[in-house]
Amino acid sequence: MRQEFVADMTENNNNLNLTDGGSGDNRFRFPAWANYMVPAGVLLAIGILTYIPVLLTLGFSARTTDVGYQPVQPVPFSHKVHAGTLGMDCRYCHSTVEKTAFAAIPPTQVCMNCHAAIKSESELLSPVRDSYSDGEPVSWIKVHDLPDFVYFNHSAHINKGVGCATCHGRIDEMEEVRQSEPISMSWCLECHRQPERHLRPREEVTNMSWVTGAAGEELKSRYQVQSTEYLTSCTTCHR
Ligand code: HEC
Ligand code: HEC
Ligand code: HEC
Ligand code: HEC
Ligand code: HEC
Repeated sequence: MRQEFVADMTENNNNLNLTDGGSGDNRFRFPAWANYMVPAGVLLAIGILTYIPVLLTLGFSARTTDVGYQPVQPVPFSHKVHAGTLGMDCRYCHSTVEKTAFAAIPPTQVCMNCHAAIKSESELLSPVRDSYSDGEPVSWIKVHDLPDFVYFNHSAHINKGVGCATCHGRIDEMEEVRQSEPISMSWCLECHRQPERHLRPREEVTNMSWVTGAAGEELKSRYQVQSTEYLTSCTTCHR
């Protein structure tokens, strides 16, 4: 490739130099460093060609755009069966959701309350039995995951009447949990600007089919929900 390039230039220069006899002495010559430009250009091109797809993959993969993100879990635990068909309340397993920032993932003991007897031979439950006997928790993969510089608190929302389904969708209809909302800053702010549109009576926070409606304004004052000014200030979520 480099040879062609040099040959080309010589031809060009010959043409240009026709008037002064083409002596060759005053022909334009690329300085020595120019030889490195070709490999450097190739490297740059390779760099750009790999950089763009990497950027696109990172930018648009389910992990970062998030809606629809649904990792394969070590045990095919079905919310549809447990929360839907069996009608178990979310708080039976996510027991800290009303009291702390973090919604606890149930320890193996909670599963064994039933599965010591129900489906006790099931192959699907063998990681749960292993966990129970060796004391190592099941390695569930986190579905929703905010960056560390964002502060989020479940109890603050649950106690003011924001339902699980508003942020997580119809979990009771999901075989495996997938993210149903973008969990982006603009998504948080959309509700923080007009929380009254999304409030329900506290007793209904785990009701998956509740439709939030006209009572919002009244609930907002009854629960003394913070002002929109507070809810939209940067330090509320970035502290
Ligand atoms: C029998 C126990 C049990 C019940 C009842 C239950 N869950 Fe779960 N939940 C789990 C387990 C185990 C996981 C972790 C595995 C997974 O993501 O499927 C989980 C995961 C989740 C996640 C994803 C957490 C993450 O990683 O981001 C959400 C959201 C969730 N549950 C919401 C609910 C809601 C809402 C209800 C009530 C409608 C509910 N759960 C009822 C056991 C339960
Ligand atoms: C309140 C009782 C109860 C609790 C607690 C419970 N389960 Fe279940 N689970 C059931 C019942 C009932 C079934 C359905 C059995 C059937 O299909 O006949 C089931 C089915 C399953 C199955 C399908 C098994 C198969 O072979 O079809 C899995 C996997 C499972 N549960 C995982 C879990 C995990 C993991 C936990 C803890 C996070 C848990 N369960 C907690 C009652 C419970
Ligand atoms: C206002 C929106 C909102 C509501 C309401 C809400 N969640 Fe969440 N949930 C989130 C966000 C955001 C995360 C991710 C938090 C993080 O990564 O720090 C999350 C994470 C979780 C997790 C994973 C553990 C954790 O805390 O990171 C579980 C389990 C969960 N939610 C269950 C529930 C249940 C059950 C309810 C109802 C009782 C509920 N959530 C109500 C937004 C919400
Ligand atoms: C559907 C409505 C809704 C969504 C979505 C929502 N919030 Fe909120 N948030 C509220 C309400 C209502 C309050 C008021 C709680 C109060 O008055 O104490 C609140 C309060 C808060 C607080 C203040 C807690 C305190 O005690 O000071 C933080 C922090 C917060 N939200 C973070 C977030 C973040 C981060 C997101 C997005 C990942 C989010 N919220 C999404 C409705 C929502
Ligand atoms: C209601 C909660 C909330 C409030 C209020 C809020 N943010 Fe955020 N912010 C978030 C969340 C959630 C993310 C993470 C978004 C993501 O991961 O996509 C974020 C991300 C960011 C980022 C990183 C942007 C990026 O592209 O990664 C910056 C910078 C930021 N916020 C600045 C601010 C400033 C400045 C304010 C005040 C004007 C503010 N935020 C108010 C919730 C909030």
